Amino acid sequence: MTGAALQLHGVTKLYRSGRRFFGGVPVSAVDGVSLSIAPGETLGIVGESGSGKSTLGRIAAGIEAPSAGEVLFDGRQYARPGSTAWRKERRFVQLVFQNPADALDPRIRVREQVAGALAAHERLPPAERRRRVEDILHRVGLAEIAGRVPQQLSGGQLQRAVIARALVLQPRLLVCDEAVSALDVSVQAQVINLLMSLRTAFGLSLVFITHDLSVARHISDRIAVMRAGRIVETGDPDTLFSTPREDYTKRLVAAIPAMRHAPPVRPAAAERIAL
Ligand SMILES: Nc1ncnc2c1ncn2[C@@H]1O[C@H](COP(=O)(O)OP(=O)(O)O)[C@@H](O)[C@H]1O
Ligand SMILES: [Mg+2]
Repeated sequence: MTGAALQLHGVTKLYRSGRRFFGGVPVSAVDGVSLSIAPGETLGIVGESGSGKSTLGRIAAGIEAPSAGEVLFDGRQYARPGSTAWRKERRFVQLVFQNPADALDPRIRVREQVAGALAAHERLPPAERRRRVEDILHRVGLAEIAGRVPQQLSGGQLQRAVIARALVLQPRLLVCDEAVSALDVSVQAQVINLLMSLRTAFGLSLVFITHDLSVARHISDRIAVMRAGRIVETGDPDTLFSTPREDYTKRLVAAIPAMRHAPPVRPAAAERIAL
């Protein structure tokens, strides 16, 4: 047993290129990555498109196995993806992706989708199940509108529903892959603030993947910068921004529009900025 919630040792993922031009030569999407995440810690993973962030996120969450290297969650390896043991451990590790509409069933009311996720993972007396569902719906701010189907919700509300469905299981680790990237900036700030309060309430470890450094800066305790499958630099957000060591990181920081160097605005101030 170790202190870390999640440890990756020399993780590599090879994909066989589909393109004839490469003659089926394996491409390493992730190349020898080692890192650890403490209980309750938020690790931001940033890097340009194609740098391997999503692949690393899927491996960290255990939905994809590495080609080489080791992933330990609470000191133990994940079970083989798809196995019975693996389905059981899914409760403890949840993922949130970019497009919430794709993640939800369009025909089913939000409350039922959250309740269904809980029922699939835990046997609970009906009253207790209802209590857990209402509690999380309340925490994400959807209690009043959870009787609606996805089509009747905004993008931000849909992502809140996805977050509720993940957190009703009381996971230990949440992997967010571009979870706010499709939302308007003011809505991004709301969802990030929500995630920050939920992670404290639940003692969650968070892997927060984003191409947007200003978003990563706001939410992360520590940031890992990925380039071509490797982590080129890690550090606490303020140091990384003020004194990036690698040229690649300097370029990423320089690419942020000036206004967004500041942390995302709190919801109350959002409207003022928009004027
Ligand atoms: N399932 C896959 N099959 C083949 N190649 C893949 C697959 N997933 C990712 N890749 C390749 O691995 C590299 C990293 O992709 P990805 O992890 O999606 O990066 P990012 O999330 O940073 O944009 C890219 O070159 C991508 O084309
Ligand atoms: Mg990606």
